Amino acid sequence: MFRMFSDLSAFRHDTLGFFESHYNQAQTPLVKLNLGPSPVYLVADPDLIKPIFKATEADIDKGRLIYKLREVIGLNSLTMSGQAHRERRAAIHQHMAKGIATSYVPEISAMIREFIIKASKDKCFDAHAITAPIALRAICDVIFGRGTLTSQDIAALLNAVELVEDDVADKIFRAIPDWPWIALRKKKKLAAGRAIMGHVIDKASRKSTRSSLIQSLQDLGLRGEALRDEILLIIMAGHHTTGSVAAWLLYHIGLDADLAARLAKEAQCICDDEGEIIPEKLNKQASLSRTVANEALRLYPSSYWMSREVLRPIELGNTHLKSGTSLIICPWAMQRSSQHYNVPETFRTDRSYVSKSFIPFGLGPRACVGMGLAMLELQIIALEFASNFEFTSVSPVPAPNPKPSVTLVPPRLMLSVKLRDHKSQTQNAA
Ligand code: HEM
Repeated sequence: MFRMFSDLSAFRHDTLGFFESHYNQAQTPLVKLNLGPSPVYLVADPDLIKPIFKATEADIDKGRLIYKLREVIGLNSLTMSGQAHRERRAAIHQHMAKGIATSYVPEISAMIREFIIKASKDKCFDAHAITAPIALRAICDVIFGRGTLTSQDIAALLNAVELVEDDVADKIFRAIPDWPWIALRKKKKLAAGRAIMGHVIDKASRKSTRSSLIQSLQDLGLRGEALRDEILLIIMAGHHTTGSVAAWLLYHIGLDADLAARLAKEAQCICDDEGEIIPEKLNKQASLSRTVANEALRLYPSSYWMSREVLRPIELGNTHLKSGTSLIICPWAMQRSSQHYNVPETFRTDRSYVSKSFIPFGLGPRACVGMGLAMLELQIIALEFASNFEFTSVSPVPAPNPKPSVTLVPPRLMLSVKLRDHKSQTQNAA
């Protein structure tokens, strides 16, 4: 009986270390984890990723660990399957597909510049305190239409997400139910978060523009609770993920003056005479900012683990898996393993990301639907910050690991900046 739970305490104590050590010491492609009464395996062989992620829904699907989240974030694209999932995914995809995401470039650049002005006044800032609101503003503009939300609405949404997210993370591997008073406290917190969210969403829906994502979801017939659950997911999936990676990206640019200078040069090459990024060039001629984004995603994959459940008995990695078996895929462990990357803990810009072991956005029919938008945001943040600022100090060095919650939450990463000479001349002239 106790053996079933024997890994639970190590997992809870140091989740990232737990996954890393099991991955690196694996003797078999699938490693059994004792995290509860049902069988759970960590996938320790990148060759198994594709068969798992591309299996039919009838064989391998999201499953138990993710379905538990329905109690917290309801039914939405992440927690449902089948036709309903495909329809919602298609509606979101319409607004996020590669070519379409590029159309947001001018808006995202303009919005990032507002934060750059603030950072240039503050001179010293916590990276995540800047990148999280940038990511939130970007996703809200896509969902509701540009400028629909006021800054008070955005602050309220941030507060609502914070109220919900730690409980989301806790829910998944909780084998034993909470004490009744803790369950009640969590329920109240969740209700408060959802109420704030509901209020903002209802208000924004009334003002949203015809071409916004919320309208596409309403066209699918989503209303009330169902609409709120989908929006809550998109905000959670699209904001902390990108915001966290972006904070690390700025941290590493801040540590390397030569990299910052090279990015500033890349920005010059892809901008027009007015200094505006030419969207098409961002895709094709901005390889350094793309690499920097990929390297930040390799070292700090915000979705640090994903899970699936076997629905029909199958053979995988020389193991017979019965139905009900959970499979955990851990980009954090895989993308930091010396089996796949040289000096894996070092931030470098000479790596290739065409690799089975690089899966920050997942793979197959459930891969991240916001990947195009996220990459765009990361690239623009890298280019705009590097072309505006010299980073005069960065702390702490080295940085502690992020906190594993629903996504990886970065520690305080303090950056001191000064405007590059040509930028301060422009600002003075203005
Ligand atoms: C750096 C940023 C991001 C990372 C690392 C990331 C990562 C991921 C991963 C790994 C998955 C797949 C989960 C699985 O297979 O179980 C996923 C799914 C998803 N992501 Fe992202 N994501 C990011 C940004 C975004 C953005 C900006 C959006 C905005 C729309 C978004 C929306 C979603 C949605 C709706 C799903 C569920 C897709 C489905 O099940 O069909 N993500 N994300």
